[in-house]
Amino acid sequence: MTGRSMERDARIYVAGHSGLVGSALVRQLQAQGFGNLILRTHSELDLTDGASVAQFFAAQRPDYVILAAAKVGGIWANKSYPADFIRINLAIQLNVIHNAFLAGVKRLLFLGSSCIYPRLAPQPMREEHLLTGPLEPTNRPYALAKISGIEMCWSYNRQHGTRYLAVMPTNLYGPGDNYHPRGSHVIPALIRKFHEARVQGLKAVVLWGSGTSRREFLYSDDMAQACLHLLNLPDDAYSTLLGEDDTVTGHFVPPLVNIGMGQDLTIRELAERVADTVGFAGAIEFDQTMPDGSPQKLLDVSRLWYTGWRAATGLEEGLRKAYRDFVERELSAH
Ligand SMILES: NC(=O)c1ccc[n+]([C@@H]2O[C@H](COP(=O)([O-])OP(=O)(O)OC[C@H]3O[C@@H](n4cnc5c(N)ncnc54)[C@H](OP(=O)(O)O)[C@@H]3O)[C@@H](O)[C@H]2O)c1
Repeated sequence: MTGRSMERDARIYVAGHSGLVGSALVRQLQAQGFGNLILRTHSELDLTDGASVAQFFAAQRPDYVILAAAKVGGIWANKSYPADFIRINLAIQLNVIHNAFLAGVKRLLFLGSSCIYPRLAPQPMREEHLLTGPLEPTNRPYALAKISGIEMCWSYNRQHGTRYLAVMPTNLYGPGDNYHPRGSHVIPALIRKFHEARVQGLKAVVLWGSGTSRREFLYSDDMAQACLHLLNLPDDAYSTLLGEDDTVTGHFVPPLVNIGMGQDLTIRELAERVADTVGFAGAIEFDQTMPDGSPQKLLDVSRLWYTGWRAATGLEEGLRKAYRDFVERELSAH
């Protein structure tokens, strides 16, 4: 979908542009002709440093902000570094959202994650399920930081009339993913595992958990397209997404839009598809003593579909592209 709201010369700050989502956002913005991007690496601007962030926003005065910088990781990383996950994410959000307000940013998109929803939320999970039950304990510090980010967007919209929107992507994968053997998410971890097993000629691969939990996956370029589609919505359509907080009627809707495919599969089915893509023909076994996380995580994406956007990249095509990217990175690293 082409831009209808953001001007082609708008000053757009993509926080976290070197990451999986950030790099996809930059690719999409450039492809759509937005040439005035403001980009800072982590070492150029540490977003947990309040004074530096204040100085940056006052000097750069971006028109639009996409907050795709965060401390992100899989179950192992979340279990090992809970204090880092809550501290760093809260600090980044506090600094970026408040300074965006001070700098008069027109629209801000805050990237959260589907783990904000209760562990046993009805499936598929709708935006109004936010804060209706206990969270999954393995990533609760991360989820609570993200929930605080949504609440900040909502509160600033109410108190200051800002136009900040939170988007909740499902599990993402794509070029430039983190393939670290322990710190990564499920698809990049499976790609590495099956690739190494094939190269080493192993007969079997053992995976964590029972393989029965259901997950949904979205290709990162689709995620970036969805973000730009939302940021580009005309004013009236965009306004309908910004949340309601009517103490008279008791009608509360957070400024939140789920972004996903709208369909899920079991981890076992996913593993089989990744093994096929990679060309690993051995056995796939499951270590049931390891944790599964939530039994199912599927987003209800009707709010997004209603705005006129649907994901285009199927899992098979996405896995093929992701694996090609992994192989190129492996080859250039050796
Ligand atoms: N990947 C997923 O499956 C997924 C799913 C749902 C939601 N999300 C959300 O999407 C957003 C982006 O995720 P991602 O997968 O693209 O993560 P990523 O690949 O780890 O990228 C995160 C980016 O943030 C930067 N960053 C981290 N800490 C920073 C700091 N203190 N100051 C400045 N920059 C910092 C990183 O820079 P360095 O690498 O140089 O540190 C990197 O550019 C996050 O909000 C995440 O919660 C991701």
